[in-house]
Amino acid sequence: MAFAPNSPPANILVIVAHPSLEQSRANRRLMQTALNVPAVQVRDLYALYPDYLIDVAAEQALLSAAKLVVWQHPVHWYGMTPLMKLYLDDVLTFNWAYGPTGGALRGKDVWLVATTGGPEDSYQPTRYNRYFFDAFLPPYEQTAALCSMRFLQPMLLHGAHQVSDAALTEHAAMYAQRLSSYPHWPELENLEDCVNCDVPESARPADEAIVKPPKKVSL
Ligand SMILES: Cc1cc2nc3c(=O)[nH]c(=O)nc-3n(C[C@H](O)[C@H](O)[C@H](O)COP(=O)(O)O)c2cc1C
Repeated sequence: MAFAPNSPPANILVIVAHPSLEQSRANRRLMQTALNVPAVQVRDLYALYPDYLIDVAAEQALLSAAKLVVWQHPVHWYGMTPLMKLYLDDVLTFNWAYGPTGGALRGKDVWLVATTGGPEDSYQPTRYNRYFFDAFLPPYEQTAALCSMRFLQPMLLHGAHQVSDAALTEHAAMYAQRLSSYPHWPELENLEDCVNCDVPESARPADEAIVKPPKKVSL
């Protein structure tokens, strides 16, 4: 897909989900970086939703307006953090994000920006994390695919506790550069649209059988 070099700034939505950002070294720095990039809107989920009651309509409206959606979080137990998962559970609903009358996210891009405690060389068959890190990515990639979104090459910082300040600074600078230059990333020019994952109506129980999340109440 080609983009005119002088097209208006892209609308980028960065979803940050770190359960203790005040203790974070890497993600706090990355979030600060994103906040300083024009055309980027940052949602700090743990700050916005300390009660875990996500405003689904507000989040869906922000997603609808975005072209690039960033999922930024530390890796916990080889996957996403709890509120990141709940956000996907609640916000990417059947017949909105996917399903026969879904498609609200069709054609958008998703970019995973994640950090791990384990260094890169711990992620291989002979070391304690036993798998190359790519082995943990299919749930992310398929979540994007089901919603007809392109899953871009993730940006990972391994060994987030141990990397030098200089390496962290370089990583943050790369993050800023990528955010500010989107969608003019060389690899996007030839990246194909997402594969079609059509979910038939019959794949889900009738509406009344679905347990709805509790409504947010004001005290
Ligand atoms: C509950 C929990 C689970 C974790 N699970 C993993 C894991 O599966 N793999 C890994 O490499 N690091 C794991 N870590 C380490 C975090 O990924 C690491 O602390 C984080 O990426 C550092 O980023 P920060 O400076 O923003 O906190 C875990 C940390 C916590 C608290």
